[in-house]
Amino acid sequence: MSEIFIQKDGFASEHFGVGIGKLPPASLSLDLAVVREALLKAQNLGIEVVTTRLIPSQIKEIDLVDALRGQVFDTLITSTLYPTKKPEIVFSPIEGISIESHDKVIAEEDIAAIRRMGGTAFNLTHFYTDSRLSKDGWRSFYGAWSVNDATNRAKQTVLARDEKSGEVVGFTTTLGMVDLVAVAENSRGRGIATRLVADSRKWLAGNTDIATVGTESVNFSAFAVYQKCGFIPRDIAYSYHIWLDEALR
Ligand SMILES: CC(C)(COP(=O)(O)OP(=O)(O)OC[C@H]1O[C@@H](n2cnc3c(N)ncnc32)[C@H](O)[C@@H]1OP(=O)(O)O)[C@@H](O)C(=O)NCCC(=O)NCCS
Repeated sequence: MSEIFIQKDGFASEHFGVGIGKLPPASLSLDLAVVREALLKAQNLGIEVVTTRLIPSQIKEIDLVDALRGQVFDTLITSTLYPTKKPEIVFSPIEGISIESHDKVIAEEDIAAIRRMGGTAFNLTHFYTDSRLSKDGWRSFYGAWSVNDATNRAKQTVLARDEKSGEVVGFTTTLGMVDLVAVAENSRGRGIATRLVADSRKWLAGNTDIATVGTESVNFSAFAVYQKCGFIPRDIAYSYHIWLDEALR
């Protein structure tokens, strides 16, 4: 690679109200001067921060990000499941909670519940832990991401519904991999996420030989859920933000 193409992340930029770009990790193997030049161009086009993900063995790239005052805002662990090779795990039902599988979620009140949960759940991600990005932006970003998944992008969305109130209290979305899993705060610790992911496994088993899920290294409850459902942690990567005003000063 000799040219660096920094792509604007339109979706994130719109929700955070900040120009956010994606820096291809391979470009960080180039000389510092070349990377700085590309960042300067991006800055002139309205990009204020670039994100990139590096694995621990990318020593040269990590040093270069350090020279640009980049910082790690989360450490992501990818877990893998071979759904056709591992036997399905059957969990007992949870009293008062029904589990439903949808191609697309269409009921307005379910969509509103997904937006609410999605917009408050993902507080270990790099878009939350970087304090220069607004919390309103974070809520709007993950709320919209969750709704886009459930109504459009996902191949399958599994919902957990409180049978008494009729309210959706948890969801998981599956693209080719498990994308998002969230449970309403006051419903956590009852095994709901485990049931949601276990149900997603049925779709995965019929549609893919290998499934992945990413989670922050400190998200112990998510790890517990994925491991109970047969996922094994395999890869680790650091999520960096490089703020261009700091990098180029
Ligand atoms: C992660 C999340 C989905 C779990 O939902 P949940 O319904 O509470 O999960 P479950 O009850 O099925 O299982 C939670 C497991 O985590 C374990 N756990 C909770 N805190 C833990 C900790 N600090 N260390 C280790 N295990 C922990 C529980 O003991 C339980 O395992 P067990 O049933 O074997 O005892 C929920 O906390 C959430 O919505 N978090 C915010 C969104 C998120 O982080 N999503 C996942 C990343 S994509």
